Amino acid sequence: MPHDTILVLDYGSQTAQLIARRIREIGVYSELVSWSDAPEAIAKHTPKGIILSGGPASVYDPGAPTLPRAVLEAGIPVLGICYGMQVLTHALGGKVAASSHREYGPAILHTEGEIPLWHTLPRDLDVWMSHGDRIEQPPPGFIPLAHTSNSPIAAMGDANRGLYGIQFHPEVSHTPRGVDVLANFALRICGCSPDWTPKAFIEEAIIAVRAQIGDGRVLLGLSGGVDSSVVAALLHRAVGDQLVSIFIDHGLLRQGEAGQVIETFQRNLGLHLIPVNASEDFLDALAGVTDPEHKRKIIGELFVRTFEAEAQKLGEIGFLAQGTIYPDVIESAAPDRPNAQRIKSHHNVAGLPEDMHFALVEPLRTLFKDEVRKVGEALGLPDEIVWRQPFPGPGLAVRCLGEITWERLEVLRAADAIFTSELDAAGMLRGETSQAFAVLLPVRSVGVMGDQRTYGETIALRAVTTDDFMTADWARLPYDLLAHVGSRIVNEVAGVVRVVYDVTSKPPATIEWE
Ligand code: XMP
Repeated sequence: MPHDTILVLDYGSQTAQLIARRIREIGVYSELVSWSDAPEAIAKHTPKGIILSGGPASVYDPGAPTLPRAVLEAGIPVLGICYGMQVLTHALGGKVAASSHREYGPAILHTEGEIPLWHTLPRDLDVWMSHGDRIEQPPPGFIPLAHTSNSPIAAMGDANRGLYGIQFHPEVSHTPRGVDVLANFALRICGCSPDWTPKAFIEEAIIAVRAQIGDGRVLLGLSGGVDSSVVAALLHRAVGDQLVSIFIDHGLLRQGEAGQVIETFQRNLGLHLIPVNASEDFLDALAGVTDPEHKRKIIGELFVRTFEAEAQKLGEIGFLAQGTIYPDVIESAAPDRPNAQRIKSHHNVAGLPEDMHFALVEPLRTLFKDEVRKVGEALGLPDEIVWRQPFPGPGLAVRCLGEITWERLEVLRAADAIFTSELDAAGMLRGETSQAFAVLLPVRSVGVMGDQRTYGETIALRAVTTDDFMTADWARLPYDLLAHVGSRIVNEVAGVVRVVYDVTSKPPATIEWE
């Protein structure tokens, strides 16, 4: 059963994705598409409303993005945000003018009129502005609905046609009541039902997967990360043992991780799971290698070869499942948008040789990361998996600086387990830190234990907070916690004599050390 949909047209704003996410948080399905794809997207989704995002252009720029005719012809409500408001104004015969000064940052919006868009909101709203041009004269049929000190027409609307424009950004967290504005548009003006829930998603995904796969078999590379885990649980529920999962332990996993994946999926969920312990192959291939890019290349290639060898033992399999999520889909549609997700690609099984002909099954293609987690919870996956922090494909290889040996990996695993378990006990592993881990440095340093001079390994602790992993700040962990972790590591992990804390943000540093 298709759900009510709000289509968001992307005019290039950095926060366009956020608009679709906020609409979905309200329980209404939303998709983001390029403004120029509007005619096809409208025909495909028959949306109940359209939102025009902000964007960097000015409507008078040569070649500036325009309002596709199909938008107004659809005869459904439209909400233009920032550039979206300007493009709506320009298309309908109003006047957009360059403002004498840019309005950027917080502003107070004074709303006017008893209209559904302002339902339950106070007269004065804290909003976030980011624009140069502004509306000088609304199009015929529109009336002003709000102003700020710099924008006499900061919102406008034509209630008869259901057309609205707002100059501020309701999608960002700096507009605290912004989500109410979006909810008023989606629910009151467009009349959407807020019934897009994880449970509804799962029911529909199961029907779609069954229709796609029929009685064929589907192969999945399970990493234990959130995305592949949720795909595994979802496909298992949809097609049971027609799903065959391969889990490759490359020996570069964290303490207890391989066991936990096997326990969860094989024993608890009853998946047809093939665990492959390829640690020795990987360590042999990595012996003596210290260059980070060289390590990554070796691991990526060997991973694909190992996966392929296992898959071939299984005979003819028609489908390959992947944990592609919505940001990956948006990225590949708009290659000029930078995004951290791209970094992962080399480690995907998409690198499998051409002669293996699989049809792809990508049941999470329409979900944002936080939605994937909600679906994982609704499928009954344990918290440790659903709330796992991201872990790089090459695993501990990029955290074990210098030469990789089993002994050094064991030191790193022990230190990492102490750090992350203490963070977890302090309630700082989920939410408070986006990624937290230990790094083993290729540096020996002098220490003193008892009366003995020692000369041993150095552990660096890294903990960051970030929304998108493109930029990150180092986490301001409590001193007492760091002191406790430092002393536990030196006391409990043989060979470590020094622990340091990384206080660089990204940029200029990266999150990982290699
Ligand atoms: P950096 O270190 O570039 O990391 O700031 C950003 C995010 O990407 C992860 N990362 C990787 N993930 N393969 C992956 O699958 C890789 O080679 C890789 N390198 C970094 C990193 O853990 C962080 O979340």
